[in-house]
Amino acid sequence: MTTLPIRIAPSILAADFAKLGEEVRNVTEAGADWIHLDVMDGHFVPNISFGPDVIKSLRSYTDATFDCHLMISPADPYLEAFAKAGCDRITVHAEAGPHLHRSLQTIRHLGKKVGVTLNPATPLSAVENVLDDVDLILIMSVNPGFGGQKFIPAMVDKIAAAKSLIGDRPIELEVDGGVTVDTAPAVAKGGGNVLVAGSAIFKGGSAEAYRQAISALRNA
Ligand code: DX5
Ligand code: ZN
Repeated sequence: MTTLPIRIAPSILAADFAKLGEEVRNVTEAGADWIHLDVMDGHFVPNISFGPDVIKSLRSYTDATFDCHLMISPADPYLEAFAKAGCDRITVHAEAGPHLHRSLQTIRHLGKKVGVTLNPATPLSAVENVLDDVDLILIMSVNPGFGGQKFIPAMVDKIAAAKSLIGDRPIELEVDGGVTVDTAPAVAKGGGNVLVAGSAIFKGGSAEAYRQAISALRNA
């Protein structure tokens, strides 16, 4: 099985929205590998966050990879807008429908890295037939919609099963929701290499606290 580097991806959902640019710059300087952008539409998930215009405004604050997690349905009409806004990676939900393969192809044609994500109750078989079309699989370890929820323990086995399904393919395995210094070891042991963390990083509220939180996660 391929071993990809551990990457820490702070979710700005937990940042101070009144100073997002500064927050993005601070977590980048604090050692973030990717910036995780949680886009919510109040339809696919019961919460609303931000869209492509906000992402576009943030682009000049960092050179870090913009890892965009679209919790929207349908996603297809908006993929181009997110690509143009400066997202480097775009991940859609397998449940967002109606045609997952078409969404993945569209992201590929836009020249962006392609991701697919699975809610906690969605079986891994939902991605079995698109493995050669993706660069990243995201396993939700909480129900999407809100930060600060508890990691669902049953997802540890799912992460390991996803890793073995991926096999030798160079696919990033990302885990999102309730990732803290306590849950990160099980995530990494199962083969998760991209760790999304919102509250665990931003709760500190200062650049120095972000640095400590990111290195604590990496060392965990
Ligand atoms: C949930 C989002 C997550 C969330 C992570 O819908 O996709 O990225 O913000 O936040 P924490 O780390 O607080 O669980
Ligand atoms: Zn997310």
